[in-house]
Amino acid sequence: MFPTQFAWGAGTAAYQIEGGWNKDDKGPSIWDTFCHKGGGHVFEDHSGDIACNSYELWEEDLKCILQLGLTHYRFSLAWSRLLPDGTTNHVNEKGVQYYNKVINDLLASNVLPMVTLYHFDLPQALQDQGGWKTPEIAGIFDSYARFCYETFGDRVKLWITLNEPFVCAKLGYEDGIFAPGEKQPGISAYLVGHNMLRAHARAWHSYHTLYKEKQGGAVSLALNSDWAEPLNPTSSDDIAAVKRYLAFSIDWFTWPVFVTGDYPELMRSCIEVRDKELGYQGSRLPRFSKDEPSILGTADFFSLNYYTSRKVKDEGGRPGCRMRSDQGAVGVVDPTWPVCGVSWHVVVPGHLRRLLNYIKDTCNNPAIYITENGFSQVGPVDLDDVQRCGYYKDAIQEVETAIKTDGVDVRGYFAWSLLDNFEWADGFRVRFGLFHVDFTRPERTRTIYRSGREYASIISKYKTQI
Ligand code: NOJ
Repeated sequence: MFPTQFAWGAGTAAYQIEGGWNKDDKGPSIWDTFCHKGGGHVFEDHSGDIACNSYELWEEDLKCILQLGLTHYRFSLAWSRLLPDGTTNHVNEKGVQYYNKVINDLLASNVLPMVTLYHFDLPQALQDQGGWKTPEIAGIFDSYARFCYETFGDRVKLWITLNEPFVCAKLGYEDGIFAPGEKQPGISAYLVGHNMLRAHARAWHSYHTLYKEKQGGAVSLALNSDWAEPLNPTSSDDIAAVKRYLAFSIDWFTWPVFVTGDYPELMRSCIEVRDKELGYQGSRLPRFSKDEPSILGTADFFSLNYYTSRKVKDEGGRPGCRMRSDQGAVGVVDPTWPVCGVSWHVVVPGHLRRLLNYIKDTCNNPAIYITENGFSQVGPVDLDDVQRCGYYKDAIQEVETAIKTDGVDVRGYFAWSLLDNFEWADGFRVRFGLFHVDFTRPERTRTIYRSGREYASIISKYKTQI
């Protein structure tokens, strides 16, 4: 049994599905630039120029949503489609019309929108001024958020400010495999994460000061995390490594927002030790200023994106000894775990439940929406995707157990993704959809996978029970 009002959803993100990258006055984003640069940053130099063409084919997406019987649909706004240079100096009315139509059509069909303001696609004009590395970005993001609350907030009641700041910071600024493609290990990622937290907090405070009373919605940020367990469960070194691994992943963002208002002590101490080893002056991990709006308490619910797990081993050094990474912990894949489509993505039943309990215990039992969970497929298209069906069935079962047996306050489950789409650096090679999209045809024909049909019947079964 799931609680009444439980949200059954699926998600997408603007750059991954919309296409229309320069239609109707849309400004370029960092993903447009990153893909157009070529050179193999993205699998076979794919781009989101057309993607699922949802900018022109929204009605097709709506049919998919209705076929699944979703109660909620999560999608993101392309910042530079609304504000081509990222600022409110110039509004693209065509962009406003597009999202108005999406929202109005959803509501007319009894589907509630959950809207993400930022899903990896910073306006290029802002990147040119330093983007997430500059302190000013917090105020600029806040103005964009206010514009969105003002324009759409009469109808949108569930807001996600930022999607996966961990991924933006690490993959965009440390590994360089996501836009903007910077590789500055251990320097920029902390700064980017910091400014993202500041931006999120500003936007949350704005909502609560200016809009909450009249619009009555809720605001959070989507945090991703693998679940982590010690490689050797009897090794105290590996057990300690798991703590560091989590401190540098989920806790990096949950401690400031849900727990203490600041980064985990463990994270700060590891970085400071290594700052000395590496000869940095001061700490690479910034401090929050007391003169700025508080970070603590700036989430009305917990938004969790979960996919996979790691076994964690100690890297061989202790704080105080030489470590290869700040966290001194390495996540590896257990060879007995089945892999989905891509190597990073292993399936481990039971771990979503453990992660939910970890959040309950460390973040003061928040209301949780699982805003992403899904299964990747590569190679020949298999519409009879039985493995994915099993993944969803197990995951939903775990959520039910977490609610019933463990008392975790889960309010909704959003499958990732409604459609096969542009899977970032993996291009169209990796497919997460409940609907297959034929990228070889201009119509971008959508065809339901078996997992889509099964998800629809799970939803209808639970909706009837309620
Ligand atoms: C999380 C991201 O939010 C989404 O954009 C991506 O497609 C999925 N992970 C799968 O990698």
